[in-house]
Amino acid sequence: MSRRISLTQYLIEQQRQHGRLPQELRLLIEVVARACKRIAISVNKGALGDVLGTAGSENVQGEVQKKLDIIANEVLIEANEWGGHLAAMASEEMEGIYLVPNRYPQGEYLLMFDPLDGSSNIDVNVSIGTIFSVLKKPENGKGVSEEDFLQAGSQQAAAGYCVYGPQTTLVLTTGNGVAMFTLDREQGSFVLTQEDVQIPEDTKEFAINMSNMRHWDAPIKRYVDECLAGSTGVRGKDFNMRWIASMVADVHRILTRGGIFMYPWDQREPHKAGKLRLMYEANPMALLVEQAGGAATNARQRILDLQPGQLHERVAVVLGSKNEVERVTRYHNELGRD
Ligand code: AHG
Ligand code: MN
Ligand code: MN
Repeated sequence: MSRRISLTQYLIEQQRQHGRLPQELRLLIEVVARACKRIAISVNKGALGDVLGTAGSENVQGEVQKKLDIIANEVLIEANEWGGHLAAMASEEMEGIYLVPNRYPQGEYLLMFDPLDGSSNIDVNVSIGTIFSVLKKPENGKGVSEEDFLQAGSQQAAAGYCVYGPQTTLVLTTGNGVAMFTLDREQGSFVLTQEDVQIPEDTKEFAINMSNMRHWDAPIKRYVDECLAGSTGVRGKDFNMRWIASMVADVHRILTRGGIFMYPWDQREPHKAGKLRLMYEANPMALLVEQAGGAATNARQRILDLQPGQLHERVAVVLGSKNEVERVTRYHNELGRD
């Protein structure tokens, strides 16, 4: 039987081999993983656990909150607030930052999360997930504030997601490649199932919500039209399309077999840069994708270079197989800025 490596063992080995994974960061990742296990249990209960349906409230972005959005948010906060590794947290489901209560020791990390990604899929039993991003609090000798979170994605100390699908899989980077861990329910532990994940540079699969086509900008239309033209068009090959409406599940497919994911700016809400949130959706996914040899842009620039202006900032997202992302980005930059 081949040797099974648990998440804990993997992280300790990373610490030893690379000497670059601080103890506090290791603990933080393990606590997030533990919270994801608890969320997975709630997700699996479904109708039996009274976790389906809406909570009757809205978040700061004006979106209707599902019961599981709130449950997952609470699980992540409860699990993380007392361990001493964090200074503060921020979440899609909370307007401001959440300071670690005074009764607990303060750590040096900042944790951001989308507690439940793909909320529209909860009730219909389609894959959903949790996305997280870890930053270090700047050493400015001051108490923690929202400004401390406003760091470019390239500064992330770690990032990952947990997808609750047919399997529960935790996908992680600490800046040294991407590893995948599958939850062994009998043992109650995440087991390393893939290391050094690599996204193929080319693909024949694209993901975009085609119902928004009439609202798109010309370069996105051009790219998708060329994919749709298939082997008789300029691309000279047929493309396949997938859209799960859970970014975690779409990104997981791309990390597994390649592809390109796009949620571009569109004319429905022209004042917003995009639908997805920069700090706890796009940045962690961009780091994972780059660490796996792919690319991630806002259709013009590298996502990880963007300087955030606010916690809940939105961004256009184009990520996945490198050559396709570069093509979409080139189509936009060729036209210049409008
Ligand atoms: P969330 O459930 O956290 O609000 O995020 C949903 C996001 C993302 O996961 C997905 O790719 C996208 O919204 C789907 O949007 P459409 O419903 O517009 O296709
Ligand atoms: Mn989301
Ligand atoms: Mn969410």
